[in-house]
Amino acid sequence: MKKTTIAFLYNIRHIYPDPNDSRSDLEADFDDEETIEWIVKHLKNLGYHVIPIEANEKAYLSLYKNRKKIDFAFDFSFGLYGAQKYGHIPGMLEMLRIPFTSSSSFTRNLTLNKVEMKQILIANRIPTLPYQVFTSEDEKKESNLSYPLIVKPMAQGSSAGISNKSVVHNAEELRKQVRYILKTFDYPAFAEPFLRWREFSVSLLGNPPRILPIIEPDFKKLPKKFLPIDSLEVKWIFEEEEEVNHLVCPAKIYFQLKRKIETIARKTWEVLDIKDLCRIDMRTDEKDNIYVLDVNSPPGLIPPEVSVTSYFPLAARAARIDYPTLLKTIIESGMKRYQVK
Ligand SMILES: Nc1ncnc2c1ncn2[C@@H]1O[C@H](COP(=O)(O)OP(=O)(O)O)[C@@H](O)[C@H]1O
Ligand SMILES: [Mg+2]
Repeated sequence: MKKTTIAFLYNIRHIYPDPNDSRSDLEADFDDEETIEWIVKHLKNLGYHVIPIEANEKAYLSLYKNRKKIDFAFDFSFGLYGAQKYGHIPGMLEMLRIPFTSSSSFTRNLTLNKVEMKQILIANRIPTLPYQVFTSEDEKKESNLSYPLIVKPMAQGSSAGISNKSVVHNAEELRKQVRYILKTFDYPAFAEPFLRWREFSVSLLGNPPRILPIIEPDFKKLPKKFLPIDSLEVKWIFEEEEEVNHLVCPAKIYFQLKRKIETIARKTWEVLDIKDLCRIDMRTDEKDNIYVLDVNSPPGLIPPEVSVTSYFPLAARAARIDYPTLLKTIIESGMKRYQVK
């Protein structure tokens, strides 16, 4: 039987995430070479013929040249520049009519832009926090928002631009952090209320999606110098270097709260038109109301050979889905949508 040819699109980082080097913020979504090598190895072991393509400016040339050979693309790209970057490679694949894993170029850009995404969530009565966009550090805070607030880049993932300083308590701190975000990224900052209660990360897989065991970071296990948030430093330095694993999976959640989280997760998947896989980050307020913070489609997928704290593979393992089976399920979910044999 002829092997299925998979184009695997990826981005390699050149600078490891470093809270003291804002250049690394722009590559926070990207992967280490080792991660990419392992994913390619796993795909080959699954019996696919793999064409690895770095998702840089030259990616289109490889896709065009190989378009007749490629049966299916595993899109694991995160884009290079701007607030539409997640959609760049999916857009090329759509134009070349190469079927691919995960959501469309439109949905990928929508989930990248947390402010645009909030508007769709609000229109569909899915709970998300109120917010204010800042295009200049001189803008004043509106009265419907009260401190403490968290300031984030409008269109980034992987905790880029998120540190202890993101949580602000007064006009001066707000101004400083907005200035930092505007200087570092090529799009606006936004602020929303800082919720210091529980955080849940919900992984969904397949069409219609199955919900994998929910992850809760236990921020009490972090050293005191860290605020209870998944900052760049916590995600990329603490989680990778320390032996303390602060991720609880499955999270200990009472029945009604779990049901609420799952209902919100499924509804979010539907209204954003997510395909194949995604991970949704949520937080609670003091009354256990849930708010959607962030949707990742695809989420990070670092293999266990490189890291055991990558959220989506961790949730899959808790459901007894090992890493190669996870990759296979993602690909087969996508191929089924396009009826690729
Ligand atoms: N409104 C908020 N209240 C409390 N913590 C937050 C809030 N927004 C973000 N965070 C913290 O920052 C982390 C990264 O923010 P998130 O919105 O998920 O962006 P990213 O796309 O970088 O993952 C979250 O996992 C959470 O720990
Ligand atoms: Mg997140």
